[in-house]
Amino acid sequence: MKLIVFGGTGQTGSAVLKLGTQQQDLEITAFVRSPSKIPNDVKSKLHDVIVGDVMNPKDVGQALVGQEAVISCLGTSIIKGTPRLASQGIEHVVNGMRKNGVKKLALVAGASAFPVSPLSFVWRKVGEDHQRVISFLRTAEDVDWTVLMAPFISKSTEGGSYKTSIGKLPGGKNVRTYDLADWLLSCIQDDIELRENTHKLVGISSNFPESGLLTPVKLAVLCLVAAIVIAYFYYV
Ligand SMILES: NC(=O)c1ccc[n+]([C@@H]2O[C@H](COP(=O)([O-])OP(=O)(O)OC[C@H]3O[C@@H](n4cnc5c(N)ncnc54)[C@H](OP(=O)(O)O)[C@@H]3O)[C@@H](O)[C@H]2O)c1
Repeated sequence: MKLIVFGGTGQTGSAVLKLGTQQQDLEITAFVRSPSKIPNDVKSKLHDVIVGDVMNPKDVGQALVGQEAVISCLGTSIIKGTPRLASQGIEHVVNGMRKNGVKKLALVAGASAFPVSPLSFVWRKVGEDHQRVISFLRTAEDVDWTVLMAPFISKSTEGGSYKTSIGKLPGGKNVRTYDLADWLLSCIQDDIELRENTHKLVGISSNFPESGLLTPVKLAVLCLVAAIVIAYFYYV
């Protein structure tokens, strides 16, 4: 399958390129702004590297000539990034797909774009742009798209076990980059899996072994509870 990956220099996209280039049946093209960010061992296994900007529809349209499927891991900084990068980028990708008869699209967005999410407040701007991505995709029924809704992404060097669920997060609020990559690559190559997830938002959570140690968050909650108890007994 001829697959083009957008955002292949980011933390999720680089896992997609690394894992994808280990798979026999994929001929992968990476669409990037900075080819020097792709490690040499991965670059040497890619079919092609196209240098372009996803905000430029011409770059995107040309890159999609002859492709059969698309994975997009595009993203931007929550502080100083292009505000509508995800939504404008995906519009250019989908329009390019239409021009070139490419049907299959799997992309990553944030779980904060689920209708009710505690993360929405923190990631408001990015979440709003991901909502625009979803609103746009809902009008693009001619494309077989699926959106993988990631919670907090942890950079990993390999995959583990994970769960997915349509329309909600199936477990914890953490996912490994290689688990995202594994799902995106298997969904885009497996027609039955893609059909099951077409036009759907798919939540994903990685399974992590229970740590016996106190995490910083657990420790902070414990300190807060202790402070409330002490204050109660002191003042009452
Ligand atoms: N990080 C999290 O915890 C988290 C959680 C949930 C969801 N998400 C969402 O999941 C997606 C992937 O996240 P990530 O952390 O893997 O992203 P990331 O590391 O920030 O990578 C973003 C990718 O998009 C590329 N890009 C940005 N602007 C571009 C442009 N104008 N033209 C072409 N490429 C461009 C970047 O290229 P350069 O290398 O050239 O900048 C990079 O390859 C994002 O949409 C993000 O909002 C992230």
